[in-house]
Amino acid sequence: MTEARKLFVRTYGCQMNVYDSERMTEALGTPAGGGYVVTDRAEDADLILLNTCHIREKAAEKVYSELGRLKPLKDANPGLRIAVAGCVAQAEGDEIRRRQPAVDLVVGPQAYHRLPDLAARARAGTPATDTAFPVEDKFDRLGARPTAPRGPTAFLTVQEGCDKFCAFCVVPYTRGAESSRPAARILDEARGLAARGVREVTLLGQNVNAYHGHPGGLAGLVRDLARIEGIVRIRYTTSHPNDMDDALIAAHGEVRELMPYLHLPVQSGSDKVLQAMNRKHTADAYLRLIERIRAARPDILVSGDFIVGFPGETEADFAETMALAEAVEYGACYSFRYSPRPGTPAADRPQVDADAAADRLARLQALLGAQQRAVQARMVGRHVDVLVDRAGREPGQITGKSDHLHAVFATADLPRGAIARMRIVRSAANSLEGVPA
Ligand code: SAH
Ligand code: SF4
Ligand code: F3S
Repeated sequence: MTEARKLFVRTYGCQMNVYDSERMTEALGTPAGGGYVVTDRAEDADLILLNTCHIREKAAEKVYSELGRLKPLKDANPGLRIAVAGCVAQAEGDEIRRRQPAVDLVVGPQAYHRLPDLAARARAGTPATDTAFPVEDKFDRLGARPTAPRGPTAFLTVQEGCDKFCAFCVVPYTRGAESSRPAARILDEARGLAARGVREVTLLGQNVNAYHGHPGGLAGLVRDLARIEGIVRIRYTTSHPNDMDDALIAAHGEVRELMPYLHLPVQSGSDKVLQAMNRKHTADAYLRLIERIRAARPDILVSGDFIVGFPGETEADFAETMALAEAVEYGACYSFRYSPRPGTPAADRPQVDADAAADRLARLQALLGAQQRAVQARMVGRHVDVLVDRAGREPGQITGKSDHLHAVFATADLPRGAIARMRIVRSAANSLEGVPA
């Protein structure tokens, strides 16, 4: 018997890429897909798959430095094939193979159900690029998912693509137009995950709350998912403020399984900048929305994203961003310096001075960091439920996530997948320490 082919996968970018990598790995693992088994050593691999992100320049450039590091492996093993998937693949297509001829395959995020065929062709010596947006549904074509037991948390893509065209963002170009998967398929997939031991699903979409594959929208889907036996926690990400409808807000107050955590990016606190970004809402509208959500679910933890140094942003605009962050009090936040992306409307506008932008980012991050620590500190003394995910760093330790998505560690002997009541005794840098209650 010949040895099974080995697959090494590296994933960059957002949670959707994590989900996509899982699906690509599963597809390549079937007999029809080539029977690849996963290795965590690139030097042992017959196929290396980089699932890439194009959101900021740094993310995209990382791919080329990684490819440069991998190239010598190919010299040592002529049978090795290298594939680039994801958003860099979509954005740059054939250019990737021109810049790095070691690459055999380039496959976009909407065409990866064709990866098994492309990999077979690459094994036979024919390189290929497939960045089509095919009419067929890739999830249908990918077929059934495995049934083996797995960890207690899973991502589940329900919606893809974006029609919003924020002036800084590549996603509408790399992921295409908004589309929603039919609710029945999602519910089937969730039942399959539950049967494998999954207790928490995080629904994914570039604009997940624009989901329209259920007559009741995302709220309707959440309510149906909550009825699946075994699924006890539901989360979703990422939402756009303009798609936060009354039904979804009400679900936060009514559906026990819907966790009290909401990622709701605002990007800026200045109406002038928001307009230049094409976000189509004001700072005040965002603040009022947060108020309504907190009225429905008072303990909800809100997280967000900010971009500083967007073209045209002045010190006064930035002061409004700081004021908005102060007003919201975020429990967690991601903030970035604006990165001009080729082909997006803002890329050619006059840029903010790099030092000024770096300085603003440092000030915003100091504020957001202090907010995160304050929200964490308030958890000390409270009881929370922790979904145990894995062994902790120290012997006898476990780690997991609270309802509010705080990482919690504890010295306790608990099985993976258990939901344990814990008292929080300490707030560490990016986690909380719990004691079983
Ligand atoms: N769909 C989500 C987020 C997509 S990208 C939404 O609409 O909010 C994730 C985050 O990356 C964005 O929220 C934004 O803060 C950041 N981002 C996107 N493009 C960027 C760019 N060109 N430069 C810097 N940050 C960017
Ligand atoms: Fe990008 Fe804006 Fe769409 Fe989010 S809503 S994916 S930031 S274009
Ligand atoms: Fe990156 Fe594409 Fe996700 S650009 S953030 S991998 S949608």
